[in-house]
Amino acid sequence: MRRTILGQVGLCSAVLLLTACVAPRSGTSSRDQGVASTTGLVVSTDAIASDVGAAILRRGGNAVDAAIATAFALAVTHPAAGNIGGGGFMVIRTPSGEATTIDYREVAPQRSTPTMYVGADGTIDRALTAQGYLAPGVPGTVRGLELAHRRFGVLPWRDIVRPAAALASDGITLTASLAASLNGQLRGSMGRFPSSVAAYAKPGGGTWVAGDRLVQPDLGRALRTIADEGPEAFYRGWIADSMVADIQRNGGIITHADLAAYRAVERAPVRGSFRGYEIIGMPPPSSGGIAVIQMLNLVEPMGLERSGRWSPRTLHHLIEVRRLAFLDRARYLGDPDFAAIPTAKLLDPGYAATLRASIDSSRAASSVALGRDIVTVPTDRESDETTHFSVIDGAGMAVSNTYTLEASYGSKAVVRGAGFLLNNEMGDFNKLPGLTNLTGDIGTAPNLIAPGKRMLSSMSPTIVTRDGAVVLITGSPGGRTIINTVFDVVLNVTLFGMSGREAVDAPRLHHQWLPDAATFEAAAVDSSTLLALRAMGHSVRAQGRQGDAHSIVVDPRTGIAYGINDRRSADSKASR
Ligand code: GLY
Repeated sequence: MRRTILGQVGLCSAVLLLTACVAPRSGTSSRDQGVASTTGLVVSTDAIASDVGAAILRRGGNAVDAAIATAFALAVTHPAAGNIGGGGFMVIRTPSGEATTIDYREVAPQRSTPTMYVGADGTIDRALTAQGYLAPGVPGTVRGLELAHRRFGVLPWRDIVRPAAALASDGITLTASLAASLNGQLRGSMGRFPSSVAAYAKPGGGTWVAGDRLVQPDLGRALRTIADEGPEAFYRGWIADSMVADIQRNGGIITHADLAAYRAVERAPVRGSFRGYEIIGMPPPSSGGIAVIQMLNLVEPMGLERSGRWSPRTLHHLIEVRRLAFLDRARYLGDPDFAAIPTAKLLDPGYAATLRASIDSSRAASSVALGRDIVTVPTDRESDETTHFSVIDGAGMAVSNTYTLEASYGSKAVVRGAGFLLNNEMGDFNKLPGLTNLTGDIGTAPNLIAPGKRMLSSMSPTIVTRDGAVVLITGSPGGRTIINTVFDVVLNVTLFGMSGREAVDAPRLHHQWLPDAATFEAAAVDSSTLLALRAMGHSVRAQGRQGDAHSIVVDPRTGIAYGINDRRSADSKASR
């Protein structure tokens, strides 16, 4: 890639066979600062869902009400990851500065075992976690949204769920990207589930095109029931009956007792400070908050802002801090209700200083050598799907929400008669005790499968404040790349002084300890930078897009919030 070209134009996906554009690495000089508002914003991957959330704000709802409405709407408009059959995390900061989190991660069913995905040949049977009825954890989304509403909501539950029910029953107009996504899924593995074909295939046959109308009557009925009878209707009653019957008829293990026992949990956020900013992140069972703060602690005194955002020195150090944080993630992190997590140590700047001392400023470390105590065998890839949205209201209440079905369209299996997709989140557990390998499988104890346990997540909904005021709300999909996308966006704003638009547009970097290889969105690296990094011992390559970070920045001088949709996703929108 030639520097001169990169200096003139953003890197568009024709080159990468992608549909998105990534800004040149020198940073955009775009005048587009995002959608400005003093009365509130919703920024998500889907314009209809953002509009639903913004309408709730205009009706007097607060940011939590709008987030709930957006989440339910995305279950209709963004079936790849929006959901009621999955789980996620919400970070909330009130106008008075109280910060909390809602953990609505799925849990392992009571009949799960640590080796339930190990085949007769002793290897992981990935087909069982990839799709079908043994793949789901017990869904948490509806309980999580209920808990958020009980704690902070001001509008009636019914009023904020009903818009999603109407979208499903009345139908939505397909965009080109949703039409292509549905066609691809139906041609692929989703096509082998008759209930999914019934829900998503074009009536009368043929392929979907932009402008077609997708009507989801079963999902509409389920959402109307949840709206009118309350969240309990998802966990008991006809929706639960449909779920359990369908799962058990097809060899799955989730029971009525599993559904009835599911609880969302309010947890204290993890917090860090970085150059005068406060970072508020998601605690375990997400690894995201700890890892992002750990990397910021490592970077803080390095002076990378003086080396330049894209210099080999900066990129080398940004790879090394990722390597160290992801090693600790593999070593220590899991469900805090089951494993003792050394959270205080991992967040401690003193611990970061010890780790930092191990970084060679001109040589790449060896991931295997650093983790030799836990690496057992010379990728279990986490899915890129998941979706993030950010919300702020006129009073300054902020919500950062990331939720998921795990893979795109989750398990690919729609619950017959209820019209929603089941997750395949069980794949986020460590599936073969003891197996930690060079391609990304982790077999350490904290994240082994156990009944009632939450699987470790990388989802990293994050709120950044300064002097007591919100300055950034961000998060992303992307499996383990989520942590790095969020880290990059936070660094771009706080250390490199980018505007919100520049920070979100800027190309991103990923390294996750193992596999020991860094990937960049192509615009980040020119050939001389690649050569310099390789000379230091890094394995580096350019790849396609990373993440989808729908964010909000607030100008501290004016108090104006700017909604910045991530232009990597075609249907995204900041709505006010
Ligand atoms: N399934 C993606 C995550 O939880 O990190």
